[in-house]
Amino acid sequence: MTLAQHIITWQHSHGRHDLPWQNTTDAYRIWLSEIMLQQTQVVTVMDYYAKFLARFPSVHALANAPLDDVLALWAGLGYYSRARNLHHCAQQVVNEFGGEFPRTPAQLMTLKGIGASTAAAIAVFAFGHPAAILDGNVKRILSRYFCITDAPSAATDKILWAHAERELISKDDAEHIQLSHASALRSYTQGVLDLGATLCTRSKPQCHICPLHDGCGAREHNLTQQIPAAKARTAVKDLHIELYIYRHNHMLWLEKRPKQGIWASLFSFPEHDGLSDQAAVPITLPHITHRLTHRQLYLHPHIFDIDATAARALEERANTEHPHGALWLSLDTLSQVGLPKPIAALARTLLSTPE
Ligand code: ADE
Repeated sequence: MTLAQHIITWQHSHGRHDLPWQNTTDAYRIWLSEIMLQQTQVVTVMDYYAKFLARFPSVHALANAPLDDVLALWAGLGYYSRARNLHHCAQQVVNEFGGEFPRTPAQLMTLKGIGASTAAAIAVFAFGHPAAILDGNVKRILSRYFCITDAPSAATDKILWAHAERELISKDDAEHIQLSHASALRSYTQGVLDLGATLCTRSKPQCHICPLHDGCGAREHNLTQQIPAAKARTAVKDLHIELYIYRHNHMLWLEKRPKQGIWASLFSFPEHDGLSDQAAVPITLPHITHRLTHRQLYLHPHIFDIDATAARALEERANTEHPHGALWLSLDTLSQVGLPKPIAALARTLLSTPE
């Protein structure tokens, strides 16, 4: 049996069959799941996926929604450029493709946020089109199977892409196991994802029950712990952020962040004193740490309890200096605004405790 045939056979008996984005060929649903799953684990995606589909049941609904609503539903999932690209992509599908996702990986890759592997996953799951995926799971499986010890790099990716394309189930090999090509492609693609998530995991691979046990180079040479080789460490920079938290009437003042940089287009507390002439002495809370991929954040909250005059001054200033948006957040509206995770947690604490 070929590698793909082993994976398909294993997928049928041991793979996952009830994930919310399986058992559909609706490209919109599949696309949404693949974007969410790009940098987020299945368990986390589940809830967000259901909420998203309830609010935006079609690509038209998503394309017509304000970006702020999309960001609000995405809040907490991280990597917010995905949400902005998602919204943009929905508009592309509506405006450039008449509301139907294109069927080939090459066309899918013309859409915002869709790279080669995501395009392949959509093409396979939605259209049964032959295309190879290469996400982190597949890289790990192929690196181990073919005993590729090289450090991750563009050159290593090229080698892995070649393997991924060669190992894709062919029409003939599908027929040999009594499957249509489309159905074999779907089982194979789901199978590599399932194998990577359940058996061929980074730190505890379960080689004794793996369908690729016999041909696996890393297992044979006792190198599963060394493969895939670790990425060169990216430098993590410390970033200190002062948070000017203006509180009035059980509400907190938020301003929309710029379109570039961390937490782009999300709402957060101002980072500069917006009321330099105000008399209130702030309550300074202990700092909060939060890790992003390349940044270690230190958030320094200063709370100012302000009066109605100062509150109005903030609103007036916002009209001229914050045309993107600013608002008073209350406990009731907390879940409707796109907030970064640590900001949402801080806001919830402050709004839930008596002033
Ligand atoms: N990761 C990426 N795509 C996936 C899928 N369709 N199912 C499970 N995990 C995934």
